[in-house]
Amino acid sequence: MAKQVLVTAALPYANGSIHLGHVLEAVQTDVYTRARKLAGDDCVFIWAADTHGTPIELRARREGITPEALIERAWHEHRRDYGDFDIGFDIFHTTHSDETRRHAEAIFAAMESRGDILSRPVEQLYCPHDQMFLPDRFVKGVCPNPKCKSPDQYGDSCEVCGSTHAPTELGDPHCSICGTAPELRSSTHLFVPLARHEAFLRQWLAPLEQGGHTELQASVRNYVMEWVDGGLRDWDISRDPPYFGFEIPGHPGKFFYVWFDAPVGYIGATEKFCRDRGLDFDAYWRDPERANTELVHVIGKDIVYFHCLFWPAMLHAGGYTTPSRVHVHGWLTVAGEKMSKTRGTFVLARTYLDHLPADYLRYYFASKLGGTQDDLDLNLEDFVSRCNADLVKKTANLASRSCKFITSRLGGTLGALGDETAEIVAAAQRRLEEARVHYLAFESGKALRCAMQIAEDFNLYLTEQAPWKLGPEQAERARQVCSAGVYASQVIAGILAPVLPRWAEKVERMLKLPHRLDFAHAGTPLGAGHVIGEYEILAEPIDPAKVAAIIEASKETTPVTIADTPAYEVEALQPETTIDAFAAIDLRVAKVLACAKVDGADKLLQLTLDVGPLGQRNVFSGIAKSYAPEQLVGKHVVLFANLKARKMRFGLSEGMILASGSTDDAVTVLELDGRSRPGERVS
Ligand code: 2FM
Ligand code: ZN
Repeated sequence: MAKQVLVTAALPYANGSIHLGHVLEAVQTDVYTRARKLAGDDCVFIWAADTHGTPIELRARREGITPEALIERAWHEHRRDYGDFDIGFDIFHTTHSDETRRHAEAIFAAMESRGDILSRPVEQLYCPHDQMFLPDRFVKGVCPNPKCKSPDQYGDSCEVCGSTHAPTELGDPHCSICGTAPELRSSTHLFVPLARHEAFLRQWLAPLEQGGHTELQASVRNYVMEWVDGGLRDWDISRDPPYFGFEIPGHPGKFFYVWFDAPVGYIGATEKFCRDRGLDFDAYWRDPERANTELVHVIGKDIVYFHCLFWPAMLHAGGYTTPSRVHVHGWLTVAGEKMSKTRGTFVLARTYLDHLPADYLRYYFASKLGGTQDDLDLNLEDFVSRCNADLVKKTANLASRSCKFITSRLGGTLGALGDETAEIVAAAQRRLEEARVHYLAFESGKALRCAMQIAEDFNLYLTEQAPWKLGPEQAERARQVCSAGVYASQVIAGILAPVLPRWAEKVERMLKLPHRLDFAHAGTPLGAGHVIGEYEILAEPIDPAKVAAIIEASKETTPVTIADTPAYEVEALQPETTIDAFAAIDLRVAKVLACAKVDGADKLLQLTLDVGPLGQRNVFSGIAKSYAPEQLVGKHVVLFANLKARKMRFGLSEGMILASGSTDDAVTVLELDGRSRPGERVS
């Protein structure tokens, strides 16, 4: 009996908006899932938001809302954005759920009882100002590589020289939230000694033909094996508060590291899905021998470590189904480079959707996706020309020419296919089958080329036969020729269906098909006498101005990012900018709570500002020659709020207040009236 198939994409982190890199993975997973469904498999796409960790905790704090409110907002936004990209998930749940908590606890308990949990003290950087241990990505300082020494690098790696390091190795380390120099503190952490799972992992990772359990791309298997051969290290799975997540049972004050419970979200979401539909959860996840279930994960290449080492070990220890296949894709680049905010190529999903329909991008991504981990480039000219050539010129025109001729001149009735088309019809049927096989191997690019070849064959045939030149006495001949065009459009739509579900639905409607356009039926000709309906527009050319507008709009909207792990991208707590980048300056109403002279600096005043939901700020301002401290207290001023905090001799200056004057000694502070609300944006 065919197994039921459970497919997942990486769970999007709930701390920031979806961008085109996310869309790439979602489209790949969606196309694969739809293709399996259309191939007759019992297949579900299980998905959720990944919601825990320091970045969520801090961002919520900064916005003055609860983490629950933050993840709720993100959940709605992500669901809507992915939905508008026609991503056909069967559920979009959240890791902040009872289901996920219970399964995370069950896995932890199973590990603990097997002796898979160790505890030992860890020395870590701690920010005395923010009163928290700092994740690697929240510490910045000078790269420790003696040949590099670049300033302002993260605690885990240097973006300039590429070397990796511990946050404690950074020169002049400071907290990226507040700028304070952190101190070393000790705390007890829980670890999974992964080496205890080495035998299992080696077996799980072995190629299928050697008794292995999972299908992996060869290159992925090779580098995962290098990690195993290099010695598996203990994995730190606990975090100290403040931490938005699940407290670890039996270990008060310790929370599961977000990477422990994130993948458990796959299980939690399945449980919810099964409960909602009355399906058997155990058949999916309590199937260690995989008698019933095929479990397929689609992920990016940055999170292989988690999905190919930690995750199978957790599942194995907990007695859950282990993955049958982990499919790893590359990065999205735009115009040959990493997405860039300044170039406007860091495009949010919503920005794209504001200007163009999802179908074009779905098609473009799918046409370039293959089974490898190679990066995929979104070249904007190529995007326009490929969509226009393939979707409009080759395929939509073929359908429109043949359908319209039949409906407008021949009463909408199809004829039999002529003998001279036997060869191209057989080729089309062969290509339909080839396309099915390609899709199931994550080779959507090859599948779509099959569709384009069919279009080329039939376009040539139609052009040669030129039915529109035939006189009324040859109406039956014209019917025969155009019926071949209609047939080709049907098969092509069958191949496009996983990528362009709306296109396929239109063709189903237009041709009044008696069956769905699935792989079993898309190749069967409708036959003489079948009456089709009116042509519906399948695709129109992309206006390049729309693409330009997307780039333009992306220049303004994009968040600066700080991350917990590189995979956990978040909007910056304090986006760093310069005065030049005027557009990036975040101006806020600030109320002066206190103001004092600064000993040893006769031009400076120290201001304590209330910035509403952004909290309080300490700012040093060179206005002492123009103002006595008491003149400013209670005033509403304008704060350049996202200016990088600066360490001064007297303390940290967290922003700048706006003032103007012809000389340093005669300035006027820009004042707002008392009705303005602290924290409000000033435009
Ligand atoms: O890399 C990321 O953005 C993570 N949110 C992916 C998690 S995948 C799964 F483990 F939940
Ligand atoms: Zn700090």
